[in-house]
Amino acid sequence: MNLILLGPPGAGKGTQASRLMADRGMIQLSTGDMLRAAVKAGTPVGLQAKAVMDAGGLVSDDIVSGIIGERLDEPDTNAGVIFDGYPRTAAQADALDGLLAERGRKLDKVIELAVDEDALVDRITGRYTCGTCNEGYHDRYKQPKIAGVCDVCGGTEFKRRPDDNEETVRNRMAEYRAKTAPILPIYEARGLVARVDGMADIDYVTAAIEAILDA
Ligand code: AP5
Ligand code: MG
Repeated sequence: MNLILLGPPGAGKGTQASRLMADRGMIQLSTGDMLRAAVKAGTPVGLQAKAVMDAGGLVSDDIVSGIIGERLDEPDTNAGVIFDGYPRTAAQADALDGLLAERGRKLDKVIELAVDEDALVDRITGRYTCGTCNEGYHDRYKQPKIAGVCDVCGGTEFKRRPDDNEETVRNRMAEYRAKTAPILPIYEARGLVARVDGMADIDYVTAAIEAILDA
């Protein structure tokens, strides 16, 4: 099973992908996480990507399709992949078809997380993650059970993304509307799209996705 989670910034792609990893042993491929790791490591890709990401723009199609292709060559991805934040343009959608076909794989489903954009700014500006294991939290919607201590690993250091401020979020949403939303009809024409209400609570969204995958 190879699956795309499609939705604007803050729609819940990362949240749901990490649950599917835990529940089904699928592998989450988040181009955002990979780019942030490259920025942190100071690699040539990271150096090129940093300013674009900080401004809320899109990194070049060649760079992101390149890192996805490399990752798909690692054997753990044979178990099934959840694409989180990729593809984001028509050129990336096209590249993904090629990357999968070259490896004898195919796309099985595209799940659109349908959300109300106004609520997303609040979701994103309240978001933070564990600095040790990367578990995601939110100031209001998902707090650790013990304040200041990660539920998963017991870590006590948390971090916020530099692009999670209101101005950058608005740019990221405009990029989504202009460049990413137009790829939905491509997948609709192929009968691959299922829509889930991404405004429902996190457990409900997970259950709705699981039901689609089991159908
Ligand atoms: P990326 O990291 O992909 O960011 P994004 O698409 O902007 O999406 P987010 O990670 O912000 O949101 P999400 O949908 O994962 O939501 P989450 O689950 O965290 O990309 C970052 C940057 O990298 C881009 O701007 C671009 O520059 C570059 N980039 C990445 N991929 C690229 C590509 N393919 N091409 C070019 N450039 C690329 O949820 C958000 C918060 O809400 C959390 O706190 C969560 O707990 C909470 N929450 C989630 N679901 C719910 C719910 N149902 N109810 C209440 N709260 C919820
Ligand atoms: Mg994410």
